[in-house]
Amino acid sequence: MRITFEQKNNISLQMKSLIKILVVAVVFVAVSCNKSTAPNYQFMPNMYESVGYETYGEAAFKDGLEAQLPAEGSVARGHIPFDIENSTEGYALAKETVMSPLDSTQVDLNRGKELYDIYCGICHGGKGDGQGNLVKREKILGIPSYDDAGRAITAGSIYHTIYYGKNAMGSYANQLQEEERWQVVSYVLQLKADLEN
Ligand code: HEC
Repeated sequence: MRITFEQKNNISLQMKSLIKILVVAVVFVAVSCNKSTAPNYQFMPNMYESVGYETYGEAAFKDGLEAQLPAEGSVARGHIPFDIENSTEGYALAKETVMSPLDSTQVDLNRGKELYDIYCGICHGGKGDGQGNLVKREKILGIPSYDDAGRAITAGSIYHTIYYGKNAMGSYANQLQEEERWQVVSYVLQLKADLEN
């Protein structure tokens, strides 16, 4: 039996593709046998598995809590407590007696305006006339103008209002630090004066 040149060529082509298929099959088997759920031998295991404590997981203290509450009466660094309480009497007391600790060189109306526009303008309006965007869009009612004679706001009453909020207005004590609150107070007084003129 004679094999023609064409047949010979055909056979070697078939062999070549068989080898290709085998190579692919071997690689596939080798890769798919690498099980990701069972880790390989770890050379330095403590680099992968640290011995840190879980913040809330371990009962390191008697009460079973890892993260502790601050001791009673502790004051956060840089935080000056406001002695006047959150009540109508407290409001009246603040209105009468509390003054800004900032002197004229420390007042920074640009900074006050910046903070005011971020936190207050949306309700009270850029001019403090009670016409903020939320009012214009009828999302909130009862925003007073700062020159409301019946309210006759003072530095102390503004500070009390920022610190505790007032009725529908929430507290801004957590958004503004001590000094920032007073900068906003100065700016609100400036708006009030502008409205009255
Ligand atoms: C979500 C809307 C809203 C925002 C934001 C807001 N307020 Fe008010 N504010 C009110 C409302 C409502 C009242 C009226 C409260 C009342 O007397 O019933 C009020 C009242 C006031 C008064 C008058 C309080 C008084 O003595 O009668 C001052 C001053 C004031 N806000 C300052 C601020 C300042 C400063 C900010 C930003 C730090 C601010 N407000 C942010 C809603 C807002």
